[in-house]
Amino acid sequence: MMMNSQKNLFFISLIVIAGLSIISARPLVAKKVVHAINAGSHMAKRSVEGFVYTRDQGYDEDTNAVDYSDDENLKGLVIKYAKEPTIYMTERHGYNSFGYQLALDIEQTYTLILKFCEMYFDKPGRRVFHVKLGDTRVITNLDIFAKAGRFVAHDEYVEFKYQNGKIYYKNQVCNNGIVDGKLNISFEKTQNDNPFIHGIVVYAGSLDQTDFEDLHNFKAQWERNYANEARKKADQLNKLKEQKLKKQEKIIVRNDHTDIEEDFEDIEIKEEVKQEQGRTVPPLKEMLMTPLGIVCMIGFFFTSFVLISSAFFEGNNVKKEQ
Ligand SMILES: *[C@@H]1O[C@H](CO)[C@@H](O)[C@H](O)[C@H]1NC(C)=O
Repeated sequence: MMMNSQKNLFFISLIVIAGLSIISARPLVAKKVVHAINAGSHMAKRSVEGFVYTRDQGYDEDTNAVDYSDDENLKGLVIKYAKEPTIYMTERHGYNSFGYQLALDIEQTYTLILKFCEMYFDKPGRRVFHVKLGDTRVITNLDIFAKAGRFVAHDEYVEFKYQNGKIYYKNQVCNNGIVDGKLNISFEKTQNDNPFIHGIVVYAGSLDQTDFEDLHNFKAQWERNYANEARKKADQLNKLKEQKLKKQEKIIVRNDHTDIEEDFEDIEIKEEVKQEQGRTVPPLKEMLMTPLGIVCMIGFFFTSFVLISSAFFEGNNVKKEQ
């Protein structure tokens, strides 16, 4: 049963994702994706838009990777509003502040898309941290649970500019924003629990060129699709259950039937055995009185007669030759 429900959830997710990829009005354009990182994972993952999230890279040492798909308690979990659920199922976190350094070549406007999902805490105020470009806080006191809840995909969008060898956020320079040609993103720990990240996309375009403005539609559509698919699956499950019940009833009826047949067979076999035991020495007289017995008897006498007479004549011939 567990296996079945997992499969169902898996297929629901697949159908929802397939539906969303068609419906999503303004998807990310693959060729504008400069970096896409599957944080906390050693696996690459192709997105529905066709770009590839690479295995985790560019992160600081002394950080930890977690794969929640290993967690038995979370088997079959559906992550709400997730276009790419597998991205949110792995995470990198640090016991202290930590960051990513990602190469940036062309000077232009970019949007940083940070993908989060609270997989552990079920209360607000437990995991609160800041996001920085260089020394500048671009998101303060980020609390994913407070914003979205548990097991809900939540993406943050940060537009920035790369100009004259510097990173600008809202027209303010971010010191240490780019170091040795690499964008310096960091997650700053507060007195609360570990900062974390599930996926990073660096997009070569302004915020309005991303899928940000379509997010409300996307979420509404996700809920409609999910509700529809869940209802369809529930209907199918009910039908299957009914069919199973009917089959079980048939089997019970059939079992009764075979039991009865077995009983009859037992009786017949026993009677046959009794009859055979009675007939163990069939009287010779009875056998000879049957038509077959008479034919056999005639045959026996006839053959005996021929054999004896031929022996007799042969004997005579031998005598004559002598
Ligand atoms: C990146 O920024 C953080 C936060 O300000 C800073 O601590 C760190 O030293 C910077 N990284 C580099 C390589 O300069």
